[in-house]
Amino acid sequence: MSENIRVLLPEEELAARIAELGEQISKDYQGETVFLVCILKGASFFACELAKRITVPVIIDFMATSSYDGGTVSSGVVKIKKDLDLDPTGQNVIIVEDIIDSGNTLNFLGQLFKDRGAKSVRMVTMLDKPDRREVDVHVDYTGFTIPDQFVVGYGLDYDQKYRNLPYIGVVELD
Ligand code: IMP
Ligand code: MG
Repeated sequence: MSENIRVLLPEEELAARIAELGEQISKDYQGETVFLVCILKGASFFACELAKRITVPVIIDFMATSSYDGGTVSSGVVKIKKDLDLDPTGQNVIIVEDIIDSGNTLNFLGQLFKDRGAKSVRMVTMLDKPDRREVDVHVDYTGFTIPDQFVVGYGLDYDQKYRNLPYIGVVELD
């Protein structure tokens, strides 16, 4: 069985949309500092590009969670594999995700940062797959809404492969 990657969102489209998101966030947080929480590993490429497009002061930290056991279906239980180094108390937290699928990860993290005393908690995701939602989560900033397909590239993996692709593609097995 071989895997073929079909381009869904080319590099230029991603760059243009990320610039717009950065501009919007900069407007919304005028006079404030934002505390970006990048969810490893998938969101790392997006978080770095987004951070470069934000013009208000930015703090960035990283966290790793898991709800997938190497496959393509969420197990529903979210675990923290690596926690933040910095304290989010009193901060304007923006959780930066690569993709929202079942919604379990963002639902869990949104509650976590409220419990940890963040001043505000918002969410930004590069991609949204609304067809697969299991829990209702309010996402403040969305890059692209995509159909229910398993995608890779720009940080997203299939069994740890393809994260380095500069575009978003769909995995086709044949
Ligand atoms: P959720 O908890 O089901 O919303 O899943 C969110 C996480 O699942 C994302 O941060 C990704 O790591 C992973 N994920 C969901 N869909 C895809 C996909 O199409 N490609 C790669 N990873 C995915
Ligand atoms: Mg992820």
